[in-house]
Amino acid sequence: MATTEAPNDAIDLLKADHRKVEGLFEKYEHAKADGKKKSLATEICMELSVHTKIEEDIFYPACKDKIDDKLWHEAYVEHDGAKVLIAEIEAGGPDDEFYDSKVKVLSEMIKHHVKEEEKRAEGMFVQAREAGLDTHSLGARMADEKKRLVADYKSSGLPTLSTPSFTGTTLA
Ligand SMILES: [Fe+2]
Repeated sequence: MATTEAPNDAIDLLKADHRKVEGLFEKYEHAKADGKKKSLATEICMELSVHTKIEEDIFYPACKDKIDDKLWHEAYVEHDGAKVLIAEIEAGGPDDEFYDSKVKVLSEMIKHHVKEEEKRAEGMFVQAREAGLDTHSLGARMADEKKRLVADYKSSGLPTLSTPSFTGTTLA
Protein backbone atom coordinates (compact mmCIF):
# COMPACT_ATOMS: atom_id res chain seq x y z
CA MET A 1 0.00 0.00 0.00
CA ALA A 2 1.71 3.16 -1.17
CA THR A 3 0.35 5.88 1.04
CA THR A 4 3.51 7.78 1.91
CA GLU A 5 3.52 11.43 0.80
CA ALA A 6 7.14 11.98 1.75
CA PRO A 7 10.07 9.80 0.65
CA ASN A 8 11.39 7.44 3.32
CA ASP A 9 15.00 8.36 2.83
CA ALA A 10 16.22 11.51 4.60
CA ILE A 11 18.13 12.79 1.60
CA ASP A 12 15.32 12.06 -0.84
CA LEU A 13 12.95 13.86 1.49
CA LEU A 14 15.17 16.95 1.66
CA LYS A 15 15.66 16.93 -2.10
CA ALA A 16 11.90 16.69 -2.64
CA ASP A 17 11.50 19.73 -0.37
CA HIS A 18 14.09 21.59 -2.45
CA ARG A 19 12.21 20.83 -5.68
CA LYS A 20 8.94 21.93 -4.14
CA VAL A 21 10.26 25.25 -2.96
CA GLU A 22 12.02 25.90 -6.28
CA GLY A 23 8.64 25.40 -7.96
CA LEU A 24 7.03 27.89 -5.59
CA PHE A 25 9.71 30.51 -6.23
CA GLU A 26 9.21 30.01 -9.95
CA LYS A 27 5.46 30.50 -9.59
CA TYR A 28 6.10 33.65 -7.56
CA GLU A 29 8.22 35.08 -10.40
CA HIS A 30 5.24 34.80 -12.73
CA ALA A 31 2.56 35.88 -10.26
CA LYS A 32 0.93 39.25 -10.91
CA ALA A 33 -1.86 39.65 -8.36
CA ASP A 34 -0.92 40.68 -4.84
CA GLY A 35 -3.18 38.02 -3.32
CA LYS A 36 -1.44 35.29 -5.29
CA LYS A 37 1.99 36.65 -4.37
CA LYS A 38 1.10 36.77 -0.70
CA SER A 39 -0.22 33.21 -0.67
CA LEU A 40 2.83 31.89 -2.51
CA ALA A 41 5.17 33.79 -0.21
CA THR A 42 3.34 32.40 2.81
CA GLU A 43 3.73 28.89 1.42
CA ILE A 44 7.44 29.47 0.73
CA CYS A 45 8.02 30.74 4.26
CA MET A 46 6.14 27.79 5.73
CA GLU A 47 8.02 25.25 3.62
CA LEU A 48 11.39 26.76 4.43
CA SER A 49 10.64 27.12 8.13
CA VAL A 50 9.75 23.44 8.39
CA HIS A 51 12.63 22.37 6.17
CA THR A 52 15.29 24.32 8.06
CA LYS A 53 13.95 23.07 11.36
CA ILE A 54 14.05 19.37 10.49
CA GLU A 55 17.52 19.83 9.05
CA GLU A 56 18.78 21.63 12.12
CA ASP A 57 17.05 19.40 14.64
CA ILE A 58 17.63 16.03 13.00
CA PHE A 59 19.72 15.90 9.85
CA TYR A 60 22.62 18.26 10.62
CA PRO A 61 23.25 16.87 14.12
CA ALA A 62 23.47 13.40 12.55
CA CYS A 63 26.03 14.75 10.05
CA LYS A 64 28.21 16.40 12.71
CA ASP A 65 31.81 15.16 12.59
CA LYS A 66 30.93 12.94 9.63
CA ILE A 67 31.13 15.58 6.91
CA ASP A 68 33.41 18.52 6.18
CA ASP A 69 33.30 20.77 9.22
CA LYS A 70 33.33 24.03 7.27
CA LEU A 71 30.42 22.97 5.11
CA TRP A 72 28.49 21.92 8.21
CA HIS A 73 28.97 25.29 9.92
CA GLU A 74 28.24 27.26 6.78
CA ALA A 75 24.92 25.47 6.41
CA TYR A 76 23.75 26.93 9.74
CA VAL A 77 24.86 30.44 8.82
CA GLU A 78 23.11 30.15 5.45
CA HIS A 79 19.93 29.04 7.19
CA ASP A 80 20.12 31.87 9.70
CA GLY A 81 20.67 34.41 6.93
CA ALA A 82 17.62 33.06 5.09
CA LYS A 83 15.52 33.26 8.26
CA VAL A 84 16.01 37.02 8.44
CA LEU A 85 14.39 37.34 5.02
CA ILE A 86 11.73 34.76 5.85
CA ALA A 87 10.71 36.82 8.89
CA GLU A 88 10.73 40.03 6.82
CA ILE A 89 8.58 38.45 4.12
CA GLU A 90 6.18 36.98 6.67
CA ALA A 91 5.74 40.35 8.34
CA GLY A 92 5.37 42.29 5.10
CA GLY A 93 3.15 42.28 2.04
CA PRO A 94 3.34 42.61 -1.75
CA ASP A 95 2.70 46.34 -1.69
CA ASP A 96 5.90 46.94 0.27
CA GLU A 97 8.53 48.51 -1.94
CA PHE A 98 11.12 45.78 -1.36
CA TYR A 99 8.82 42.77 -1.04
CA ASP A 100 9.46 41.20 -4.47
CA SER A 101 13.18 41.81 -4.04
CA LYS A 102 13.19 40.08 -0.68
CA VAL A 103 11.53 37.03 -2.20
CA LYS A 104 13.99 37.10 -5.10
CA VAL A 105 17.06 37.41 -2.88
CA LEU A 106 15.72 34.66 -0.60
CA SER A 107 15.37 32.42 -3.67
CA GLU A 108 18.98 33.12 -4.61
CA MET A 109 20.21 32.35 -1.11
CA ILE A 110 18.28 29.10 -1.14
CA LYS A 111 19.61 28.23 -4.59
CA HIS A 112 23.16 28.56 -3.30
CA HIS A 113 22.36 26.57 -0.18
CA VAL A 114 20.71 23.78 -2.17
CA LYS A 115 23.77 23.60 -4.40
CA GLU A 116 26.05 23.18 -1.39
CA GLU A 117 23.90 20.31 -0.20
CA GLU A 118 23.30 18.59 -3.52
CA LYS A 119 26.61 19.16 -5.33
CA ARG A 120 27.60 15.91 -6.99
CA ALA A 121 31.15 16.07 -5.78
CA GLU A 122 31.69 17.02 -2.16
CA GLY A 123 28.13 18.17 -1.48
CA MET A 124 26.75 17.63 1.99
CA PHE A 125 24.38 14.85 0.90
CA VAL A 126 27.09 12.94 -0.96
CA GLN A 127 29.36 13.20 2.06
CA ALA A 128 26.57 12.05 4.36
CA ARG A 129 25.92 8.99 2.19
CA GLU A 130 29.61 8.19 1.98
CA ALA A 131 29.87 8.42 5.77
CA GLY A 132 27.21 5.72 6.00
CA LEU A 133 24.54 7.82 7.69
CA ASP A 134 21.39 5.83 8.40
CA THR A 135 19.26 7.93 6.08
CA HIS A 136 16.37 5.52 6.33
CA SER A 137 15.69 5.87 10.03
CA LEU A 138 16.53 9.57 9.89
CA GLY A 139 14.06 9.95 7.04
CA ALA A 140 11.30 8.34 9.07
CA ARG A 141 11.93 10.68 11.99
CA MET A 142 12.09 13.69 9.71
CA ALA A 143 8.86 12.79 7.92
CA ASP A 144 7.06 12.46 11.29
CA GLU A 145 8.48 15.71 12.56
CA LYS A 146 7.58 17.43 9.33
CA LYS A 147 3.95 16.35 9.61
CA ARG A 148 3.80 17.58 13.18
CA LEU A 149 5.40 20.94 12.37
CA VAL A 150 3.19 21.61 9.35
CA ALA A 151 0.08 20.97 11.44
CA ASP A 152 1.42 23.13 14.24
CA TYR A 153 2.46 26.05 11.99
CA LYS A 154 -0.80 25.89 10.07
CA SER A 155 -2.84 26.17 13.23
CA SER A 156 -0.70 28.66 15.18
CA GLY A 157 1.26 30.48 12.46
CA LEU A 158 5.01 30.47 11.99
CA PRO A 159 7.01 30.66 15.19
CA THR A 160 9.77 33.18 15.76
CA LEU A 161 12.59 31.31 14.10
CA SER A 162 15.68 30.65 16.15
CA THR A 163 19.06 31.48 14.60
CA PRO A 164 21.59 29.28 16.41
CA SER A 165 24.62 30.60 14.52
CA PHE A 166 23.80 34.29 14.99
CA THR A 167 24.55 36.22 18.13
CA GLY A 168 21.59 38.58 17.89
CA THR A 169 23.51 41.70 16.92
CA THR A 170 21.25 44.74 16.97
CA LEU A 171 21.33 46.80 13.81
CA ALA A 172 20.32 50.42 13.47
FE1 LIG B 1 19.36 23.38 4.43
